[in-house]
Amino acid sequence: MLNWDEFNAEENAAPSTGAANNTAAEHFAESAPAPITEIAEIAETEELSAPEVEVIIENTDDTSQETRLSSDQLNAIEQAKAAVEKLDPNAGNEELAVSAGRVAVDDKRMINCRADLNQLVPFKYDWAWQKYLDGCANHWMPQEINMNADVALWKTEDGLTDDERLIVQRNLGFFATADSLVANNLVLAIYRLITNPECRQYILRQAFEEAIHTHAYQYCIESLAMDEGEIFNMYHEVPSVAKKASWGLKYTKEITDPTFNTGTPETDKMLLKNLIAFYCCLEGIFFYCGFTQILSMGRRNKMTGTSEQFQYILRDESMHLNFGIDMINQIKLENPHLWDEDMKEQATQMILEATQLEIEYARDTMPRGVLGMNAAMMEDYLQFIANRRLNQLGLNEQFTGAQNPFPWMSEIMDLRKEKNFFETRVIEYQTGGALNWD
Ligand SMILES: [Fe+2]
Ligand SMILES: [Fe+2]
Repeated sequence: MLNWDEFNAEENAAPSTGAANNTAAEHFAESAPAPITEIAEIAETEELSAPEVEVIIENTDDTSQETRLSSDQLNAIEQAKAAVEKLDPNAGNEELAVSAGRVAVDDKRMINCRADLNQLVPFKYDWAWQKYLDGCANHWMPQEINMNADVALWKTEDGLTDDERLIVQRNLGFFATADSLVANNLVLAIYRLITNPECRQYILRQAFEEAIHTHAYQYCIESLAMDEGEIFNMYHEVPSVAKKASWGLKYTKEITDPTFNTGTPETDKMLLKNLIAFYCCLEGIFFYCGFTQILSMGRRNKMTGTSEQFQYILRDESMHLNFGIDMINQIKLENPHLWDEDMKEQATQMILEATQLEIEYARDTMPRGVLGMNAAMMEDYLQFIANRRLNQLGLNEQFTGAQNPFPWMSEIMDLRKEKNFFETRVIEYQTGGALNWD
């Protein structure tokens, strides 16, 4: 059987055959292990010669190993054997010792759970596992989207108006760092404190999707040959972008300290507020002005590649938002004492603040009417969205009678209605669960 030890040995040995002027690449190609499909053929067709058989037998002999290895190497191996011999199979599991028995569904809880978090099953929250499966079925990558038309339009001097250019720049600037803030909050703050393995499984999937989103924005910025420093630093330089970022970061900072732990009503509420801030406000409100603007551009046949990237991202984000709402409502259900009048008031206030920040962002990015919309229409839309978020959390609507001026946005987000909206590429992914090695 081929292995990397043999490959390295062969690399180090002087070539016994072949031209002396072989390039390194040629030598690699000759000596690299055969692909898996070829190995099977080799096994069937090649007969080992007598000397090769002897070498293999010799290499399995302990005595020969002792002669091949230095005394330092032999000592290190002996130390490893002694360490493995002494290893306590329960070391490192002390904190789980109280629940070392097999996991029962009823032991599982969203926060402050003592059941073994390394055992994924039995599932308690089927919705979390289903969202993990749905997220995997929707996998996509930014390089699959053709950006040629965008590059041509962006380079054409009068291809876009100044107001349209401002929208593209501001949104790439906001999103290029916003998804990193979300990803950091997931892996540095939330993941540790959510004590349920099926939710953690989805959070890991979500974290990868956030990496794909950041990649998508970087891909657009690079394709359009924008000033990367200017765009990526916008969350420090442009107030309407910076305010949204700092509003979110405040909630990450509260619970990201490694010594922070849940377990008291006060700390549990801090986690709950972080979840509301990130899932309902950042992903559920802060993204909506930008998504609407870029998708509106795509509907007018402008920046269609960028718009397609945003369509895929929006689909992922709808799922993140729904997962977050389910998680928050489950925590409320299991810990009704946390959802008192004070907490309801704070949650409502957070939604109102986020709405106000997004309205300011809309005014900043749309000083005039553009793409058949304006800041006042976006304000109506954001109030409509805010009512939905409040409803989803079981809170009272704050903008009575707010209407949706962009019904096409709801259609885009309702995937069952828009079966053909996302092109064949994604449908192919959905059937790609079983990889074919042929
Ligand atoms: Fe994202
Ligand atoms: Fe997200």
